[in-house]
Amino acid sequence: MTSMKCHKCAERASIRMRQHRLALCKEHYLEWFVEQTERAIHKYDMFTRQERILVAVSGGKDSLALWDVLWRLEYPADGLYINLGIDSEEAYSDESERYAREFAAERGLKLHAINVQEMYGETIPQMARRTRRTSSGRVKPCSACGMVKRHEMNRVARDLGYAILATAHNLDDEVAILFGNVMMWQTDLLARQSPTLAAAEGFTRKVKPFCRFYERETAAYTLLRGIPYIEEECPHAVGSKQLYYKDLINKIEEEQPGTKLAFYAGFLKAKEKGAFRELPDAARDGELHPCPNCGQPTTSAGVCAFCRSFNL
Ligand code: AMP
Ligand code: FES
Ligand code: ZN
Ligand code: ZN
Repeated sequence: MTSMKCHKCAERASIRMRQHRLALCKEHYLEWFVEQTERAIHKYDMFTRQERILVAVSGGKDSLALWDVLWRLEYPADGLYINLGIDSEEAYSDESERYAREFAAERGLKLHAINVQEMYGETIPQMARRTRRTSSGRVKPCSACGMVKRHEMNRVARDLGYAILATAHNLDDEVAILFGNVMMWQTDLLARQSPTLAAAEGFTRKVKPFCRFYERETAAYTLLRGIPYIEEECPHAVGSKQLYYKDLINKIEEEQPGTKLAFYAGFLKAKEKGAFRELPDAARDGELHPCPNCGQPTTSAGVCAFCRSFNL
């Protein structure tokens, strides 16, 4: 905490944001955060109040904050929780589901909750083990988990007729993804990394309204707003490349405040000018077509990677 004063009133500041040269008290911070979200929604042409939105909520601080802000701004947003069956003994998934359900119940919001094990017969770690997604004998479910989440989010959004799928990726997430994509020169992924990804061939429009917020800003919002959330990280994320990149970038940010935002905003500006455009389809495995089993778009010959992994 800081002994600085709020830039908008005489109260003591609750948060200081060096990258914005701004310090705000609790009341003005909560107001600022909601306004900034609305600005991002307009700036990146995300959606209007006439479109139905599905917010992917994990029970964590970012996604509950996003749902809260959209609700305050009176956007018609329902929630989607995907129970992945992670670590039943520590009940990570069941605990996070409880936070999402309580949040929705308190505000009278609609939450669609789905359970991967009930739907497909296996939890994510079980499926990862069976398909040998392991490293030094330990199951590494993160890539399978990412694939299942993407598949289920798109499936539910389309089945239930939502125009928009919103996730709560924050700036730290986006910068870590960007850093990874640059390190590997994944030009196809760079072409598609964007705050708003237009709907295409079986894909719902995807938006990330929190893409300009530092993680500590979303954390501060959730805390100051008094929203209960699952504080634990996914137990499988420990030692992941994503976390490694985040730590690395935070070290740079400490020395040079504003680096994260400049890195991301610079990337978006370059894209706007035409850099990192999607290459012709020749770069893909094949044309996008509906998976013969589940109907979701895929480029693989035969069934999609999701159906293959679950033997569907
Ligand atoms: P992650 O893939 O864990 O970095 O999460 C990115 C975004 O996906 C979050 O901000 C949420 O919006 C969404 N999300 C993550 N986990 C879940 C889940 N279990 N159910 C629904 N949405 C999720
Ligand atoms: Fe999916 Fe951890 S493996 S959230
Ligand atoms: Zn103030
Ligand atoms: Zn499929």
